[in-house]
Amino acid sequence: MGSWTMTPHDSLENHPRVLITAGPTWEPIDDVRFLGNRSSGRLGLELARASTMIGLPTTLLLGPGVHVEPSSQCNLHRFQTADDLDACLRNFWPEHDLLIMAAAVADYRPVRSIEVAKIPRQDQGLELRLEPTPDLIGRLSGCDHPGTRIGFALESPEGLEARAREKLDRKDLHAIVANPLSTMESDSIEGVFIPRTGPALRPSPRRIPKREFANWLLERAVELHRSRSGSGAG
Ligand code: CTP
Repeated sequence: MGSWTMTPHDSLENHPRVLITAGPTWEPIDDVRFLGNRSSGRLGLELARASTMIGLPTTLLLGPGVHVEPSSQCNLHRFQTADDLDACLRNFWPEHDLLIMAAAVADYRPVRSIEVAKIPRQDQGLELRLEPTPDLIGRLSGCDHPGTRIGFALESPEGLEARAREKLDRKDLHAIVANPLSTMESDSIEGVFIPRTGPALRPSPRRIPKREFANWLLERAVELHRSRSGSGAG
């Protein structure tokens, strides 16, 4: 890790500007309730810490309900919904080189057919109609941007790698990090880094602390970005 400390001789290309997304989205049902998920944002926070530690310009887009100590080394922007995150990505991705999309973005959000501040309790029950959210990282592949896009795939352990590879292709990513559902709300992780070309890589055959995994993953991500920008490969 120390080998990445910025020196005056290094070119900007060797120090990618890193954009990290972390945490859940909260999609409003009314002004009081929301649909959310159990993402703790911990891995994304650790990635942002690892990135700033080695001197890379880093922006963290952080979801709701995740506490973070203010740090002058990292640009921090908050989002709540998938639409907010979409707007942040459009705004910040053009000025960055490497995207690590660790946020747990909602796949569905409530259709707000009645605009009331608080839906009153009703004895006959309440039906929510949901609509799909856009695939945020997937549609970034349509942008004219040479940067490296890395996504996450949270899957059940059966067929984890195969499902992650299917997402890697469908979303047109440069790599994907596959991790089992047990990662949620945990301090440790058993993840696999799957680049578009080349073999899948694991830091360890066992679960390891998220901090250790984040340090390792950031190295892989920067290495991949450097090899892409060095070779000019898409
Ligand atoms: N993602 C996204 N926009 C969405 C949903 C997910 O950008 N609307 C991103 C996530 O941040 C993650 C990757 O896509 O980096 C994979 O997310 P995941 O929830 O595992 O996959 P989905 O596309 O939502 O598919 P499914 O829920 O069927 O597994």
